[in-house]
Amino acid sequence: MRAEALLDTRSSLDIQAVSKSYRVDGKPREILRDIRFTVEPGELVSVIGASGCGKSTLLRLIIGLDTDYEGDILLDGRSIDGPTADRGIVFQEPRLFPWLSVEQNIALGLDSSGASPAEVKRIVTEHIEIVRLNGFARAYPHQLSGGMAQRAAIARALVSRPKILLLDEPLGALDSQTRAYMQDELLEIWRREKITIVMVTHDIEEAVYLSDKIVVMEPEPGRVCGIVSIDAPHPRRRGTSKFSALKDRVLSVLVRTQSAASAGLVRSHPAAQGGIARRYG
Ligand SMILES: Nc1ncnc2c1ncn2[C@@H]1O[C@H](COP(=O)(O)OP(=O)(O)O)[C@@H](O)[C@H]1O
Ligand SMILES: [Mg+2]
Repeated sequence: MRAEALLDTRSSLDIQAVSKSYRVDGKPREILRDIRFTVEPGELVSVIGASGCGKSTLLRLIIGLDTDYEGDILLDGRSIDGPTADRGIVFQEPRLFPWLSVEQNIALGLDSSGASPAEVKRIVTEHIEIVRLNGFARAYPHQLSGGMAQRAAIARALVSRPKILLLDEPLGALDSQTRAYMQDELLEIWRREKITIVMVTHDIEEAVYLSDKIVVMEPEPGRVCGIVSIDAPHPRRRGTSKFSALKDRVLSVLVRTQSAASAGLVRSHPAAQGGIARRYG
């Protein structure tokens, strides 16, 4: 019974030639150009790229908050049409309501589900266990650590059983130790829930540690400059030569991009590579 329910949560996403402009001072400003990639059911795909290259904008389009774009975004072969419960999103800051307890915050994810109070209670309790916040159901956000608050936000996104979970730099505000712990928690949730995940990050190591596939973007306008498949079983071990080689592959896509952009100015200057490594390493 539960196994069947889980299978329903696996969804595919197809981003087809998506372009997006904003109007700034009356003139169109191109933000995304011809973005194309697919996410297979149950895949964990990271989108990586410099700040400002349009990653959050792309997630806004996928979640359906902004429908003003060219191209098509298909969820299980069907065009998306506004936000619905089949897509859950988690942002860098947990965005919990400070005056609500953990269980009340998580229950918000079921607001439009029509579930009875008893059902809500059961589902919320189940998700508190999934994100390992047992004992903190009645706690308020100010009583939680950053990692715990982010786990509550993940639970709130999961309660409506979305077909796809979108994460916008979800671990970006955490210290490095909590971040490493949360990466393992996220993998565990992904493994147990068998959910399709698209995660934005600017951390190459995080992307290599977690993802099946990494979509590398370049800025101005935001474009896909490479897609790197990470064909390595979990758990992956940081610090091994294989892990370093995978990081180098992603880095080389970024370096190639920067070299192309600055050709003639800093052609193959070693500093260009060092700069990228510092910014993303
Ligand atoms: N509502 C908006 N109007 C105009 N420009 C915007 C708006 N929202 C974002 N932008 C611009 O779009 C670009 C991409 O932003 P964003 O998607 O937040 O990038 P990222 O998440 O990769 O850092 C940035 O240059 C940003 O200034
Ligand atoms: Mg962003």
